[in-house]
Amino acid sequence: MRAYFDHNATTPIAPAVVEEMTRVLKDEFGNASSIHFFGQRAKGTLDDARSAVAALIGGDPSEVVFTSGGTEADNFAIRGVAEALEPTGKRHLIATAIEHEAVLNTFKALARRGWTTTLLPVDQSGIVSPAALEQALTDKTALVSVMHANNEIGTLQPIAELAKIAHGRGALFHTDAVQSVGKIPVDVRALGVDLLALSAHKFNGPKGAGALWIKRGTRVTAILTGGKHERNRRAGTENVPAVAGLGVAASLASKKMASESARVAALRDRLENEILAKVAGTAVNGDRRHRVPNTTNISFDGIEAESLLIALDLEGIAVSTGSACSSGTLEPSHVLRAMGLPTHRTQNSIRLSLGDGNTDAEVDYLVAKLPKVVDKLRTVTGVRG
Ligand SMILES: Cc1ncc(COP(=O)(O)O)c(C=O)c1O
Repeated sequence: MRAYFDHNATTPIAPAVVEEMTRVLKDEFGNASSIHFFGQRAKGTLDDARSAVAALIGGDPSEVVFTSGGTEADNFAIRGVAEALEPTGKRHLIATAIEHEAVLNTFKALARRGWTTTLLPVDQSGIVSPAALEQALTDKTALVSVMHANNEIGTLQPIAELAKIAHGRGALFHTDAVQSVGKIPVDVRALGVDLLALSAHKFNGPKGAGALWIKRGTRVTAILTGGKHERNRRAGTENVPAVAGLGVAASLASKKMASESARVAALRDRLENEILAKVAGTAVNGDRRHRVPNTTNISFDGIEAESLLIALDLEGIAVSTGSACSSGTLEPSHVLRAMGLPTHRTQNSIRLSLGDGNTDAEVDYLVAKLPKVVDKLRTVTGVRG
């Protein structure tokens, strides 16, 4: 058996998405900027996808700008606002210590160009305190960027409350919603944000396709300059097949979200509870109530996450770790470290992220294999469970 429990890394493409992308690749080669029939047909496909994405997040189609994925959407939000607001003298940015690299490394790049940046701490359960944001804000803060759901632990942040606080001090608010869109209801108006990033391949769409939602009237400078595509907000001939795929994935997500999220949450909860019951020396990382329905992150005492990942892969089970192995040494997860977990737990935790294809039989398989795999690894390292 092969079981895939790594849906936060990427998801399989839905058959309906493949079908539509194939049709568009074959039949709609037109340039969406062309005035003739072929161009207008491609433009119609972009418009349909824009409406589907807007409907998924409660926005207006005119506020949706297609990008090459979540990384570009985050870059566009942060660099675009920074450039637009630079002349006003606002040169301070705030994010959290647990953001994705797409945000953290963009902050580092701007810091090298003279911007002041603040990374907010999180508590033991991975949640940012509104009071910490209040303290960090100054009159010079241009933008606050807080992820909606964390990719490693799935924890959800109190975005609506944080956005209100940022607005109270005149700062704009961006949320990286790459790990929440398509999994739980996301409504840009209810969240009260100015910018929101999403990525198609996290909800059964293609890789290399995403969007930045920009609230009407928000000042953002284009970071890709060239032609007048996307209403002058993102230059470059549109990747119509990929955008069409994003559109179908968004429609599918809107339709099946309620039933699928309940099904996946039940599978995740069973998997988590059985692991905790059957494997000694285990603990869940992150807040178990405020999180997306598909994710769990579990520490295994006396084990290196990387070894567990490889041993499970040999059994046909795909999981992941937040820690990265570079030049033979295990780099602890920056998310678990920011939560203040002891060093060993930042290196012994694996992420299991479920999705569409997962079944009860796969969970049974994992729960049957895991205790033996862990025992074996603990014997090697001399730790008993
Ligand atoms: C929270 C978060 N933000 C941004 C990204 C980047 O998205 P993409 O892979 O579409 O560039 C990811 C993908 O891993 C993510 O999990």
